[in-house]
Amino acid sequence: MTWQNIRISRFGGPEVLELSAQTAIPEPGPGEVRIKVLAAGTGFTDSFIRRGRYPDFKGPLPFTPGYELVGVVEKTGVGVSALRVGEVVADLCVVGGYAQYAIRPAAFLVPVPAGLDPAEAVCIPLAYLTAFQMLTRVCHLPRGATVLVIGASGSVGTAFLDLARHLGLKAIGTCSARNMSAVEGFGAKAVDYRSGDFAAAVRRLTKEGTGGGGVDAAFDAIGGGHFSRAFACLAPGGRLVGYGSQTMAVGGEGLVSAALGLLRLKLWDVFSALFGGRHAAWYSITDRRRTHPDEFKADMATLFGMLLGGGIHPVVIDRLPLSAAPDVHRRIDAGGLGGKIVLIPWARQT
Ligand SMILES: NC(=O)c1ccc[n+]([C@@H]2O[C@H](COP(=O)([O-])OP(=O)(O)OC[C@H]3O[C@@H](n4cnc5c(N)ncnc54)[C@H](OP(=O)(O)O)[C@@H]3O)[C@@H](O)[C@H]2O)c1
Repeated sequence: MTWQNIRISRFGGPEVLELSAQTAIPEPGPGEVRIKVLAAGTGFTDSFIRRGRYPDFKGPLPFTPGYELVGVVEKTGVGVSALRVGEVVADLCVVGGYAQYAIRPAAFLVPVPAGLDPAEAVCIPLAYLTAFQMLTRVCHLPRGATVLVIGASGSVGTAFLDLARHLGLKAIGTCSARNMSAVEGFGAKAVDYRSGDFAAAVRRLTKEGTGGGGVDAAFDAIGGGHFSRAFACLAPGGRLVGYGSQTMAVGGEGLVSAALGLLRLKLWDVFSALFGGRHAAWYSITDRRRTHPDEFKADMATLFGMLLGGGIHPVVIDRLPLSAAPDVHRRIDAGGLGGKIVLIPWARQT
């Protein structure tokens, strides 16, 4: 029997994503399981990796991309006792999701409750968990607080807006004009960051709530020099959380500028008293999972519970076969999609 995956043999544009046929069914080693992948999430971080610019993954080539997956445990390796064959699990695998089969360490897997749609469930490990941990672990926001979501039309941005609504937070989201209705659909106020000074627009929007003083928390993955603009949107005592370097990913800024952005976050935080008590922090889901593995699993379980209970509503824009991966990346590279495109590896290939 042959099975399929997407392989990248050289870094580059969407055309480097190639559908490949494999002959041998992979066998799990000690502590590993073989997963039959039901749904693979896609997002900008996959594009970042595909370009060869992602700091935490540079190969080796060839490799299969795909940051997150949901699938069924098909076979367990020696020493795996916590998981059963037939159980549905989720994984933040960083690479390896765009495939019909994945071999993964059992220790990182999180059970997915029965009754969940795999395509909706796969929105949780990267997009929703990232947003949830920044909203509830890095920041501690009371109901009614105002948050600014930069890049609100993206897969993480829409997760932020959905969670903010669930947590009783007021949200302002920046996006392009064409995406304003997607952002407003979550009950957020949309600001077109391309038409003028978005910090001034945010201050105007917060005039009544905080006396024109800005937002209680801002979340920015554009990075580099953009962090200064997001910091300028904070009310006294507010917190900026930087979590990406999208400008560097697309070649708009170099490594030095991205590093200066990180340095600014540190300085603002250390010298908070000079900035009206405003704070800043950096967040990385993979770092936090490494330092707080139990928190990662607990938060995943909490989010799956919210999904099961109808408290959150991930937007799955399309469900497509693996062969659509190059087109999916072209769409991701064109900007925020208002949700997530999910690959269904066992769908009939086009
Ligand atoms: N640190 C972590 O743990 C972590 C975890 C997950 C993701 N990330 C990072 O988070 C970022 C977002 O991921 P995603 O999958 O949500 O991406 P996405 O779906 O492509 O969304 C990107 C968003 O950014 C906006 N945008 C693009 N360029 C911009 C610019 N120059 N100025 C302002 N806004 C801009 C887009 O808006 P329009 O298209 O409407 O213009 C869109 O809303 C990526 O950089 C990713 O690597 C980090």
